[in-house]
Amino acid sequence: MIKSLPQAPPARPFLKWVGGKGRLLSQYQPWLPQHYHTYYEPFLGGGALFFHLQPRQAVLSDVNGDLVNVYQCVRDRIHEVTHHLQIHSARHNQDYYYQIRASTPSTQAEQAARLLYLNKTCFNGLYRVNRRGQFNVPMGRYHQPHIFNPALLKAASQALQGIQIHTSTFADLLQANLSPEDFVYFDPPYHPVSATSNFTSYSQNTFTAEDQTQLQAVFCHLAQQGVQVMLSNSDCEFIRDLYQGFYIHQIYAARSVNSNPSKRGKIPEVLITSYAKPT
Ligand SMILES: C[S@@+](CC[C@H](N)C(=O)[O-])C[C@H]1O[C@@H](n2cnc3c(N)ncnc32)[C@H](O)[C@@H]1O
Repeated sequence: MIKSLPQAPPARPFLKWVGGKGRLLSQYQPWLPQHYHTYYEPFLGGGALFFHLQPRQAVLSDVNGDLVNVYQCVRDRIHEVTHHLQIHSARHNQDYYYQIRASTPSTQAEQAARLLYLNKTCFNGLYRVNRRGQFNVPMGRYHQPHIFNPALLKAASQALQGIQIHTSTFADLLQANLSPEDFVYFDPPYHPVSATSNFTSYSQNTFTAEDQTQLQAVFCHLAQQGVQVMLSNSDCEFIRDLYQGFYIHQIYAARSVNSNPSKRGKIPEVLITSYAKPT
């Protein structure tokens, strides 16, 4: 009898990232263009849509340089990253967590492994730094955190081969020479729907209403060039007003478990496209 070899897992996000889109992809599916040349994802985060699409040509970017370094190292230095993660996994305990949190690794691969380790063991996978840029999230309360899956990291590394990855802000897309055959997916920090829902501190700077307006100008500029543009955001008047004239689709996201029963359920979000029907 021929024994089949264990199958490599498909590539998928390897970081816990606030705002990750993994659970919304099936609702995005009908609005994804079927044909495009280069895929751009300028608010990379956990990269759920990139891993779903696995395009051959892509430009991935984020304003968070530590995060970008992780992707670059997973693409180029997977063996070194894996080696350091094995050490972190074996040594993990509370003292070790705070020791690594306070450390400043000297190589890029060590920096990447440090972020991956902290991401899987810190409170809720949050990424937060103080004014000096030092990561300051406390340890999470996990019995046995699953720190890394070597096969998954390898699959991600393969999906990232040949992909351009860099640190930049979304506005830099205005200088990039996009062609009308390209597809851009914007997943910015969401505009708060209420005063208490403001979770926009992904990096040192918060994403303001002014940033949302600037992003809309970039969206319009690209759409006018014929680029296929898609954007996610919260469903609120401000965002609907900004993007009036484009195609606004309602999406429902599951709200995380809330002790208040009136706050459980599905919350509407919007997916905005510059095109009517995907081509
Ligand atoms: C909602 S998350 C993206 C989630 C991602 N699509 C996923 O599936 O995990 C937003 C990302 O935008 C990045 N970001 C915030 N401000 C930015 C800016 N001005 N330019 C580019 N990226 C920015 C943050 O660092 C964060 O990684």
